[in-house]
This record gives sequence, structure tokens and C-alpha cells, in this order.
Amino acid sequence: MKERNQRLDFLDAAPRPLVTPSILDCDFSRVGEELDALERAGALAVHLDVMDGHFVPNLSYGPPVIADWRPRTDFPFDAHLMMSDPGRYLEAFVKAGCDVITFHIEAVPDPTELLRTIRRSGCRAALALNPPTALEAVLPYLAEVDKILVMSVMPGFGGQSFEANVLDKVRAIRAARPGLVIAIDGGIKPANAAEVVAAGVTQLVVGSYVWREDGNYAASLAELAEAIRRGRI
Ligand code: DX5
Ligand code: ZN
Repeated sequence: MKERNQRLDFLDAAPRPLVTPSILDCDFSRVGEELDALERAGALAVHLDVMDGHFVPNLSYGPPVIADWRPRTDFPFDAHLMMSDPGRYLEAFVKAGCDVITFHIEAVPDPTELLRTIRRSGCRAALALNPPTALEAVLPYLAEVDKILVMSVMPGFGGQSFEANVLDKVRAIRAARPGLVIAIDGGIKPANAAEVVAAGVTQLVVGSYVWREDGNYAASLAELAEAIRRGRI
């Protein structure tokens, strides 16, 4: 079993752009098998959507559940905390085995201390911003983050439509910090994968598109990879 620093080294070494499946739409009666299937399909990390029923109008899962998945897989866990008070539960998410921890600027308008606490705990720290939130909200903190997550839907549910106008924020962040990891989350599929990469995205969170009825997740990932490759020619 890998330790956190090994999982983060593995994540750093992963080729970019990187597609990280969100398991929000997987079969929760057999998550272990779904994680194995993603690994066989060639995924290198997974995105974990945590929803508190307050910051977003939906509930998902929390630290005790993630802790049970941790020994089941060596995937780096990319946690997306859609929560009103992420600091209150931070230690629990670190202990549960999350590796990259993202929280929302709308929930924590002065995020410096929490970002530093996350980094001190050995995890990577990231800030997310919703589609209506201006870029200026996160710009002062670019030196404190390992990643910015640009939401391309209002968070809370999988399967919503991609909002292309958020790509202006991606381009501006890319210009301000050429080496920073920029993730996008919401409505990503082959039809828009090349466009988001061209704007500067290096991590594509993909939920509903991955979870096909036939279980052929390798085909979903291959279609996304092919769309990104074609966009680069
Ligand atoms: C949205 C979540 C996403 C979501 C993505 O609230 O943060 O990670 O699961 O799902 P799709 O790709 O279906 O938009
Ligand atoms: Zn997410």
C-alpha cells in the first residue's frame, strides 16, 4: 500500500492533461469494484465529491466512507469539498486519506490559513470557484495554492451542461501562473475536452461521461484521450 507522499509523487509524474473520474455516479453498492474497474481502464487518480447539503443542495459522503476506501486502492484521492465549513472537518479528511484537498472560495472568503494548514498536513491545497464567481476572488491566493479548480457547472449534481464562458477564467489564470495545475469540473465530455485543454486546463474532472451502462470505462477514457489528442493536432 502506498503512503501519501508516494501517491503524490505518482500524481506529479502522471502525464498531463490528466482525466480524473469523479465517482459520484458510480454504483455505491460496490465502490471497491468500481475503483478496480477504473484502474483497469487506465485511470491514474480519482476525484471525490463531498457535498454537505448546505453549501450545495445535495448530500454525498464524508470522511468515514473515504477512510474505508483508502486501503482498497492506491489511487491518489482528489477531494472536492463542497461544504460550508471545510476547516471544521479538515483533519478528518486528511486522516481519511485524501491527498489533494480543494475547498470553495465562496465558503471561505479568507482562505490563506486553511490553505496553509492543508499543506502543513502533507496534502496539496486547492481553491475552487463557481461559475458566477469572479476570477478576482482567487487571484490574491495563487501563491498559496497547488491548484485552482474552475467549476463549469454550479456544483451539486453530475450530468449538467458545460458552461463554456468559464474558460475566460482558465485563460486568465494560465496567463498569471503558467505552471499551476488548473482543473475543470462539470459537463466535461469528448465534445469539449480539446477546448478546455487549449484554454490551459491540465486536469479534467469527468463524472457522468465515464459511467457507461456497459461498464466499459476504458472506452470512455479512450474517447476523452482521443478528443484531447485530436485537439492538439
Ligand atoms: C459537480 C461535481 C462534479 C460532478 C461532475 O457538483 O463537483 O465533480 O460529479 O459530473 P459531470 O461530469 O457529470 O458534470
Ligand atoms: Zn467535483
